[in-house]
Amino acid sequence: MSEQTIDTMLLEERRYPPPPEFAAQANAQPDIYDRDFDEFWETEARERVTWFEPFTKLYEWEPPYAKWYLGGKLNVSYNCVDRHVEAGRGDKVAFHWEGEPEDDRREITYADLQREVARFANALKELGVRKGTPVAIYMGMVPELPVAMLACTRLGAPHTVVFGGFSADSLSGRMVDMQCEVLITQDEAWRRGSTVPLKQTADDAMADAPNVKTCVVLRRTGGDVPMQDGRDHWWHDVVEGAADECPPEPMDSEDLLFLMYTSGTTAKPKGVVHTTGGYLAGVAATHYHIFDLKRDTDVYWCAADIGWITGHSYIVYGPLCNGATSVIYEGTPDYPDKDRWWEIIERYGVTILYTAPTAIRSHMKWGPEYAERHDLSSLRLLGSVGEPINPEAWVWYRDHIGGDRTPVVDTWWQTETGMILITPLPGVTTLKPGSATKPFPTVAAAVFSESGEEVGPGGGGYLVLKRPWPAMLRGIFGDDARYRETYWSKYPDVYFAGDGARIDEDGDFWLLGRVDDVMNVSGHRISTIEVESALVDHKEVAEAAVCSRKDSTTGEAIVAYVTLKGGAEGSVEKLEELRNHVARKIGPIAKPANIVFTPELPKTRSGKIMRRLLRDVAEHRTLGDTTTLADPTVVEEIKTRAESDRSED
Ligand code: WTA
Repeated sequence: MSEQTIDTMLLEERRYPPPPEFAAQANAQPDIYDRDFDEFWETEARERVTWFEPFTKLYEWEPPYAKWYLGGKLNVSYNCVDRHVEAGRGDKVAFHWEGEPEDDRREITYADLQREVARFANALKELGVRKGTPVAIYMGMVPELPVAMLACTRLGAPHTVVFGGFSADSLSGRMVDMQCEVLITQDEAWRRGSTVPLKQTADDAMADAPNVKTCVVLRRTGGDVPMQDGRDHWWHDVVEGAADECPPEPMDSEDLLFLMYTSGTTAKPKGVVHTTGGYLAGVAATHYHIFDLKRDTDVYWCAADIGWITGHSYIVYGPLCNGATSVIYEGTPDYPDKDRWWEIIERYGVTILYTAPTAIRSHMKWGPEYAERHDLSSLRLLGSVGEPINPEAWVWYRDHIGGDRTPVVDTWWQTETGMILITPLPGVTTLKPGSATKPFPTVAAAVFSESGEEVGPGGGGYLVLKRPWPAMLRGIFGDDARYRETYWSKYPDVYFAGDGARIDEDGDFWLLGRVDDVMNVSGHRISTIEVESALVDHKEVAEAAVCSRKDSTTGEAIVAYVTLKGGAEGSVEKLEELRNHVARKIGPIAKPANIVFTPELPKTRSGKIMRRLLRDVAEHRTLGDTTTLADPTVVEEIKTRAESDRSED
């Protein structure tokens, strides 16, 4: 991947300066880069956030921990909802919600949102939720998901939203780690015309998470689900009769807002800690400048899932804080047909679309004729996030979706960074397909060599951040050692992002993918060890090694090499069984695309699995150095087996 990206960078000569009309009206003008660090973040926090009590100090940096907006008091749901209603914008649409079944639509104004959030917050209070009560949320893309998140923030109850595609084990692991007392879920979710049994999975998860004493269940599909007496409550029952008003809890800037679990280089996902004031200021400021949000005229659509950080920052908290009108779509892009997204854009007059390269590549594969069926002329800005975007997909996106007219902002950031950090500003930056271009104003991104020297233009190395930023993670929940080790041990007091990067002669950044054992499948982070552990958990598996190969749609695809116990031979049935086992343990997104059965894995003499060689096999490359292997013949055997598997496909 990285070699190819470097080639791309050298060959990519297309340039797209901002269209003059766009530049003239843009929120961010060129002088934004001249703004002073302290002035920038003080002003942004005051302009975009309403404080119950003003902060007295901008930030405090005691590496590796930062605090922002010290002394400030605020409430996130008040900022995202109430103050817009108080300013007379209660009738403005917050969400155009579109369910997957056709003609299933709802329009939720800011006044509606205020009422629903207050009622649900009161219901949660009635169920014992207080400031500090940890709450898990396991839902699909229904309006009640942001309502549940906002209701938690109203009470000061930290939440963790678990993506609806995760398994019972993944859900229970997170609920146990955070010590959640309450789980909010739904009966079932709609997906590509069929239903996903969320409550059933939640039941399995709760069996392993005895700390969860209360479960609230939204009726979405009407499917039959068992309810456990005393523990389970229907959403519609608990909000019935609940008051429309619920005072927002004043929270300290540094109070815990939510945890978002993400894969690292071990089997156990880490609970990335985000707090209140800095996070909100960071996502609101970036959303305003990067997406050039015009609150009164734009219709903004971030097509991610709220269960990931992108959805938290750029569907829920950033856009609502800015008073935006957004679209939320429940289902898949190809249901009932492959033009569903474009139909939605036409219906609501979407002006800004933010999605991931993997989705763009799917649309590319399906062909431009689906987009051509619809009037997409309302679009004025496109965004991309989640993985490096190949220039071909970037140009297709701009041409076929953006009418060869709109800027495309390729935004680099992470669960840990909370907010976008490297990105073009659409009215300022000359775009290069495949490059995330420049650090956002005040962001001190750099590329370091192995030994910690800063690499100048033309050089490649590791992406680092040299100065704190407001939405940065405040740690890994309950694991200070892992926090220090993962992000702060490679270079002293400098944040190590885990991505490779190069800076070109113009100072533009080119992201080269992960440098650790983290794979990026359809923009989702999955660790090799996590999948290996899931495989080895199967009773017939002796050993497993996992790596990724390039894939034209998902970016990377998972390849597993598996040794069965007792030297048993693999079979097509066994392969399916193992894939399903991984889906059960982690979730369908972690299913290996292929599994190669092998009597032995390539190991060094000290017993370390040589993943580099497995990756070479998976990508049909000439094998690198095999001399350090304990048994060099093993890799030849694997190669033969991998080749014969391929010819059977
Ligand atoms: C990758 C998603 C290149 C990167 C917001 C990062 C990107 C990881 C880009 C974080 C981009 C995200 N160009 N790579 N524009 N955006 N990545 O935590 O490897 O799910 O470290 O956050 O995705 O993924 P996460």
